[in-house]
Amino acid sequence: MFNFHYRLERNAIGFVLAIILVASIGGFIEIAPLFTIDETVEKAPDMRVYTPLEVAGRNIYMREGCYACHSQMIRTLRDEVERYGPYSLAVESQYDHPMLWGSKRTGPDLARVGGKYSDAWMTAHLNNPRDVVPESNMPAFRWLLRNTLKTSDLGEHLATLRTVGVPYTDEMIANASNDALGQANPDSNLAAGVTERYGEKTNISLFDGNPGAVTEMDALVAYLQVLGRLTDAAHKSAQNEVE
Ligand code: HEC
Repeated sequence: MFNFHYRLERNAIGFVLAIILVASIGGFIEIAPLFTIDETVEKAPDMRVYTPLEVAGRNIYMREGCYACHSQMIRTLRDEVERYGPYSLAVESQYDHPMLWGSKRTGPDLARVGGKYSDAWMTAHLNNPRDVVPESNMPAFRWLLRNTLKTSDLGEHLATLRTVGVPYTDEMIANASNDALGQANPDSNLAAGVTERYGEKTNISLFDGNPGAVTEMDALVAYLQVLGRLTDAAHKSAQNEVE
């Protein structure tokens, strides 16, 4: 054995080839799973894209740095699954550009927070967390209720997302601004277009409780309420594991 190494070290080309061989084993182990990526990422035919209002809310989530205290990734550990629900699947992030998995949890994970609270609770909590959770140390985001949402450029946001693979149709892009107003005004005649384009299950609501202007609060609450609800895939695979 030692004799073999002694001879290998004296043969420059043989030694170089041996180094390449050994170093590539590590590389291969890292790359190999990508060859089966189609089987690794689950299928979710029922998955819908974010509506323009939710895209706007997601942008606000990034602007305000919510990801610095909140993750959006439930790991496959038992305590996490018991606390937050079925662990996150890769497919659930397929339309997230950029992904917001996060790496720090000062507050709880938000991957499945959609539907956990009412819109009124979410609005009150973001306006001043201490009003609903007295011991909370989350900052207040009061300006969200005061700021009118900029909707004029939402078509461009959707078009940009389409270039990286999110399947927005021309119609969705053309109607983006109106759909954002419609989703936050259930009584307006714009609301019907949102269900038509994004499906019956789309959450159309007076998110911030104020029928007047569409605010940044409307957008952020619409986004939070859809987290974990774009597809049933994770609940279905959890069900299969139980059976
Ligand atoms: C400085 C850290 C921090 C930041 C920044 C922060 N949060 Fe929080 N968040 C917390 C903490 C701590 C809690 C738990 C106490 C509470 O419910 O208020 C929490 C709770 C929450 C909850 C309730 C989760 C649950 O399951 O009960 C939501 C929703 C939430 N935050 C959303 C947001 C959003 C949206 C933003 C950005 C606008 C944000 N947070 C920014 C720390 C933070």
